[in-house]
Amino acid sequence: MAFPEGFLQELKLRNDLTELASSYISLKRRGRNMVGLCPFHGEKTPSFNIYTENGSFYCFGCGVGGDVITFVMKIENLDYVEAVKFLAQRAGMEIPEDSYDDSMSRLRTRVFEANREAARYFYKSLYAPHGKPGLDYFHARMLSDRTIRHFGLGFADEDWSSLCDYLKQKGFTDSELVAANLAVKQRSGHGVYDRFRNRVMFPIIDLRGNVIAFGGRIMTDEKPKYLNTSDTPVFKKSENLFSLNNAKNSGSRSLILCEGYMDVIAVSQAGFQNAIATLGTALTREQAMLIKRYADEVIICYDSDEAGQKATARAIPILRGAGLLVRVLTIPSGKDPDEFIKSNGADGAAAFKSLIDKSGNDVEYRLEKIKSSYNLSTADGKVQFLEEAAKVIAAIYSPIERDVYIGKICKEFEVEKAAFTRQVNSINRRKNRDYEKKEARRIQNELSGRGDRFDIRRSQNPRSSSAEEALVAYLIRNPDSAEYIDGKISADRFQNELMKRYYIYMLDRIKQGLDPMNNLNADFTEEERSRIYKIIHKHSTIADTRSSLDEYINVILSESGKPTKKDISNMSAQEIQQYLNAQKK
Ligand code: CTP
Ligand code: MN
Repeated sequence: MAFPEGFLQELKLRNDLTELASSYISLKRRGRNMVGLCPFHGEKTPSFNIYTENGSFYCFGCGVGGDVITFVMKIENLDYVEAVKFLAQRAGMEIPEDSYDDSMSRLRTRVFEANREAARYFYKSLYAPHGKPGLDYFHARMLSDRTIRHFGLGFADEDWSSLCDYLKQKGFTDSELVAANLAVKQRSGHGVYDRFRNRVMFPIIDLRGNVIAFGGRIMTDEKPKYLNTSDTPVFKKSENLFSLNNAKNSGSRSLILCEGYMDVIAVSQAGFQNAIATLGTALTREQAMLIKRYADEVIICYDSDEAGQKATARAIPILRGAGLLVRVLTIPSGKDPDEFIKSNGADGAAAFKSLIDKSGNDVEYRLEKIKSSYNLSTADGKVQFLEEAAKVIAAIYSPIERDVYIGKICKEFEVEKAAFTRQVNSINRRKNRDYEKKEARRIQNELSGRGDRFDIRRSQNPRSSSAEEALVAYLIRNPDSAEYIDGKISADRFQNELMKRYYIYMLDRIKQGLDPMNNLNADFTEEERSRIYKIIHKHSTIADTRSSLDEYINVILSESGKPTKKDISNMSAQEIQQYLNAQKK
């Protein structure tokens, strides 16, 4: 079961990786490669490489690599079949009928469908007689019917099986409902029951408009206050955001990041469509990278309680690390955004707007926080404040921005600009040295395969492994030399099991007249695929010469013990000499 070779080949030809990737990140040419900041992990120096010659990528920072299909899977959060469909659509190609029957992808489709039906059902229930408690609850929280419709809010009644009954009558199976986390298996093992009961419902919708999950709020003080969909085949809470589907169409490149569903909805009802929220967990790097695709700036608008302030402090470096500008909005008197807007009645929108206008950037916010924790009327307090402030300023990336804050603080506290600048610079020099050392070490480890839990054999015989990798990379780039290589070395001389598998696989495909890299998905795991791209990228700058090829072969042969009779009979005099020389090393 797979897509036909020819189809995949054409799909890749028609979807140029460099062009596609450029619509997500900015890339610069470096030699044969294009490089940029990796979209899959936060970084300051580019380690994401596209090897244009064969349309593949590899990131030396996070170790992810693949072809254009892998890129789409990762960046659009799709499975393999969905990514192929996405690219086919983009290139205006027809998917061959019945070419792929992948059970996981079918299940995902069913879960999307079940969620969509459930969302419709919950919405309808809200306006049915038995939904009155839910509708009253939303109205009491000042939501208009227009807002309720806009967010597709709903009601799950107190019955134990009304949703399950409804969806089963629509053709969904028990196991599909459990997979969607809309239903829970009975303890007895027989049958299923509704997961959400007696709660008002908030659907979570992804960027393509699919309902991927729900949050359900109880209408009393009982616990848990919110019940959310657990991770399912279509949902990972750490990689999604509430209402990003709305915010990305708000026309604003500045998003308001709240803590909760109700905050987003209240802020939106007040006229700010650019609000989003995490889904009951702390902000993650994946979420920050996702935001970065639709925004340049984030205004953190967390609750003004202690937990909210702690969460703010944690979110700032994550957002900055993703390359976003950050501002912090402070809500007066211990409220959350929803309560604040409501407490201002008809002036809620204007009051909130003035908070946005007043919100300072993250540096101002952090300096204010530090200021309030020292007694600035004493010399000691002042010195401690200045030392802490220097650390905050040293962390600023832009030299101009740094200079602005240095100027401001020196004026306010009447200190020599030169002295304070020296303090900031010395912190910075130390930090840069540490950062560079750390980056260099990580990339070196990556390149040498040290600390590589995936492939311990590599570190056991690095000399042979390196040569095996170089040979495989050479073979992929020069399929016309397959016969020559095959005649020189047999797969059993490889020490590294994975390299051996690649070698056999590539030779076999080349013999069949197929592109060696076209259909890795069918035979290798995601990790194994990343590995092969890593090898190709590592060797992308090395010139392919016959003598370097012979050198790889000789190293592999010599490392694997004495050559067999077949090997020797195939060697030229020069090769035998080379072999003997290699033995002496
Ligand atoms: N949350 C959760 N599970 C809980 C409590 C909270 O998943 N038991 C998540 C929800 O996404 C919620 C967010 O954390 O929206 C913020 O929680 P909290 O501040 O307690 O609730 P509010 O958003 O203020 O909700 P409400 O106004 O309805 O009380
Ligand atoms: Mn609230």
